Amino acid sequence: MTKITELLTRLDYGTAPEDSAVVREWLARHAAGFGHFINGAFTAPANTFAVTNPATGADIARVSQGRAEDVDAAVKAARAAQPKWAALSGHDRARHLYALARHLQQHARFLAVLETIDNGKPIRESRDIDIPLVIRHLYHHAGWAEVLADEFPGAAPHGVCGQVIPWNFPLLMLAWKVAPALAAGNTVVLKPAEYTPLTALAFAEIAREAGLPKGVLNIVTGDGTTGAALTGHPGVDKVAFTGSTEVGRLIRRQIAGSAKALTLELGGKSPLIVFADADLDAAVEGVVDSIWFNQGQVCCAGSRILVAEAVAPRFTELLRRRMSGLIVGDPLDKNTDIGAIVHPVQLQRIRALVDQGRAEGAELHQGTAPEGCYYPATLATGVEPASVLATEEIFGPVVTLSTFRTPDDAVALANNTRYGLAASIWSENINLCLDIAGKVKAGVVWINAANVFDAGASFGGMRESGFGREGGRAGMAAYLATARPQAKRPETAPPAPVATPAESLPATPIDRTAKLYVGGKQARPDSGYSYAVPGAKGAVGLAPLGNRKDIRNAVEAAHAAKGWGAQTGHNRAQVLYFLAENLSARASEFQDRLHSFGQTQGAARTEVDTAIRRIFWYAAQADKFDGAVQATKSAHVTLAIPEPLGVVGIACPLALPLLGFVSLVLPAIAMGNRVVAVPSQLHPLAATDLYQVLDTSDVPGGVVNIVSGERDALARTLADHSDVDAVWYFGTAEGGRMIEEASAGNLKQTWAEDGAARDWTGDEGQGRAFLTRATQIKTVWVPYGA
Ligand code: NAI
Repeated sequence: MTKITELLTRLDYGTAPEDSAVVREWLARHAAGFGHFINGAFTAPANTFAVTNPATGADIARVSQGRAEDVDAAVKAARAAQPKWAALSGHDRARHLYALARHLQQHARFLAVLETIDNGKPIRESRDIDIPLVIRHLYHHAGWAEVLADEFPGAAPHGVCGQVIPWNFPLLMLAWKVAPALAAGNTVVLKPAEYTPLTALAFAEIAREAGLPKGVLNIVTGDGTTGAALTGHPGVDKVAFTGSTEVGRLIRRQIAGSAKALTLELGGKSPLIVFADADLDAAVEGVVDSIWFNQGQVCCAGSRILVAEAVAPRFTELLRRRMSGLIVGDPLDKNTDIGAIVHPVQLQRIRALVDQGRAEGAELHQGTAPEGCYYPATLATGVEPASVLATEEIFGPVVTLSTFRTPDDAVALANNTRYGLAASIWSENINLCLDIAGKVKAGVVWINAANVFDAGASFGGMRESGFGREGGRAGMAAYLATARPQAKRPETAPPAPVATPAESLPATPIDRTAKLYVGGKQARPDSGYSYAVPGAKGAVGLAPLGNRKDIRNAVEAAHAAKGWGAQTGHNRAQVLYFLAENLSARASEFQDRLHSFGQTQGAARTEVDTAIRRIFWYAAQADKFDGAVQATKSAHVTLAIPEPLGVVGIACPLALPLLGFVSLVLPAIAMGNRVVAVPSQLHPLAATDLYQVLDTSDVPGGVVNIVSGERDALARTLADHSDVDAVWYFGTAEGGRMIEEASAGNLKQTWAEDGAARDWTGDEGQGRAFLTRATQIKTVWVPYGA
C-alpha cells in the first residue's frame, strides 16, 4: 500500500475523467450523419466523410462534403435574409445575440466536451478558455449591435460574409467571425475546418433553438474545395479567413479584382522575450501558456524563446523541470495539460519538421507522450536563426530557445521572421517592456503575459500574418463597409508613355527636364529616358521615365528613413505645417503649372488651395488620430495603438495631379509611413515640382519618394516588392486586380480603387478613413491594477 507521505512526494494525480455521456447521446442521435445548415434547416446528409476523435482514433460522426451547389444555396439563403436582418434595429439584433449567448451558456459544458472530443484539446482548456470566450464574444458583440448607430454613424454592413475557419479553436474562431458579422447586420455562410466541424453544427442547432431568423447563419461543411467555392462565390461581399499563410495567399489571389472585402488571420512564429531581470518562474509559466497551450496549435503561440544570455542556463533548467511535469494524455481527463494532436496528418507534419531540425543540428529536450496521436512537449536548443525550427510555423508543442545579449539584439532576433502576429515580453522593468513593445513587429504584444484574449481587444497580424483585426472596435469596423465611390465613367488606361531622349525635343516650349526624387535627392531615371507631358498647347515639359530599378532604389531610400515613424506626432505635424506654408508661398507657381496642363485658372486655383488646406488638415491630425485603452476583462490596460504600416507604394489617379497626390501621400506620411509615390502618369510634373517644397520644409529625405512613368508597370513593381508593406492604387479595374493579385507575395495590404471614382475636391478626398487605411492597430496588454 502506498503511504501518504510517498504520495505527497510523488504528487501523482489519479485520473479525473469528464463525463461525456451527453455528447455521446447527441452523436448517437446524429448517427445518420450531418447535413449542412442552410436557411434555418439541416439538409439531408450527402457525400459524407468521417470525423474522428484524435485521442482515440475512433470515428465519431459523418458530415457532408459541401459541393458548389450547397455553397450556392447557402449564399442565396444568406442573401435573401440579409436585407431584413440589416433592417432590424441594432437593439433587435442585439436581443438575438443576447439570446444566443444565453443559450450557449446553458450548453457550455456540452460544447466543451464536444470540442475536446472533436479536436483533442484538454477539457480544462475547452471548459475554462474556449467556451467562456465564445460566450463573451457573443455578449460583447450583442453590445456592439445595440450601440452601432451611435458608435459607427452612417456605417452599413457589407452584405453576405463568407467565413472559413481552422481546426485549432473551432468554436472560438466561429464566434470571432460570426458575432461581429451579425452584430453589424451582415448574414453569414461559414465553413468550419474538415477535422473539426462538430461544434459549428451544434452551434447551428443552438442558434435555431435561440430563434435566430433563418438564413442569417448558414454552415456548410467540407474541405478546402468547399472553402474555395465559398470564398470565390460571386454572391459573397466579404471574406474572412483564419488559417495557414499558404491558403491565405491562395484566397488573396482568387478574389483579386472582385471588390470583396478581405481580412486574413494567418500564421505566426512569435517571439517570447525573457530579459535578465524577468521573474523567471513567471516567464516559465508564460512559456507553458504560449506553446503548450492547445498542443502548440495556436497561431500566436510563442514558439521562439529569446532569453538573455546571463539567465539562459537558469531559465533553461527551470523550463526543463516544468516541462517534465506536464501531463500529456487523455484530453477528457481534467488533469491533462497537453491533449491529442488534431489529426495524424498534423502529427506527421510536426514529426517531419522536428526530424529536419534534428538533422540541422538542433538539440532536443523532450518530455514523454503516450502512444497514439500525441506529441511530447519539446524544447529545441542550439538552433540557427535560419533553421527550419526557427523559421517554420510548426503548429505543435515545439519551442526553440536561443539567447541574446542586448535589447537591440533581442528586437533584431524577434523581428527576424516573415510573420508579425504576436510577441510576449518578460521583464520587471516596465520601461524596457514598453520600449520593446514599440519595436517588435507584431499585431499583439503581451507584457509579462502570454496568450491572453478578450472580445474587447483587437487581435490580428502584420506582414505575412495577415491583415485586419478581430475583436474590439477595429474588429467591428472590419464588418462594416465604408461607402465605395462609384465612377460615372470608369478610368481607362492612359497611353503608354513614349521614351523620348531629351536631345530629340525642341528646346522650347519645354523649359527643363524634371527628375525623380529619391532619398531626398533629385535622381536621373535609370532608363536615361523621359517622356513628354502634354499640355493645352503641345508638350509642356519632360518627365522622367522611371523603371523597376528606380522603384527599388526608392523603396530602399524609404526603408532607410524609418526614423520618421518613430518621431512623435507633434514633430511630424510641425514638418507638415511647414510644408503647407511653403506650398502656400508658391501657390501661383503651382497654379500656373496646372493651368499649363489645360486646366482653367479657376480650376487650377481651387486645386492648389484645396491641396494646401488638405496638408494643414493632415498636419493637424498627425498628433490627434490616436489610439485607445480597450476595456478588457482581465487586469490590464490594453492599448490599441495605431502604428504606421511602414513603406507604402502609392499610384495616384490621373486627374487632379497635385490634389490626388497630396490626398494620398499626406495621410500616409502624417501617420509615420514612408512613401514611394507614382504621380499622375499624364501630368506628373505637378508632383515632381514638389521636391523643392519638400526639401525646404525639412521633410527628411526618403520619407516621400517620387518615381514618375508608366503607372501600372511601376505599381506592379511596388506590389511585387517584398519590402513594401502596402500599395494604394487608383487606376483601372484591371490594374486593381493585378495589384491585389501581386500583393499576395508578402501579403501586403492593398487599397485599389477606380482612379476616376472619387471626388478629390470634396469630402471623399479627405478624412479619418484615409488615416485608418494608413495605420494598423497594435494591441499591447500591460498589467494594471492586479
Ligand atoms: P488550412 O489553412 O489549409 O485550413 C484552414 C481552413 O481553410 C480549413 O477550413 C480548410 O478547409 C480551408 N481551406 C483550405 N484550402 C482552402 C482554399 N483553397 N480556399 C478556401 N479555404 C480553404 O490549414 P491546414 O491544412 O488545416 O493546416 C496546415 C498548417 O497550416 C498547419 O500545420 C499550421 O501550420 C497552419 N495553420 C495555421 C492556422 C492559424 O490559425 N494560423 C490554423 C490552421 C493551420
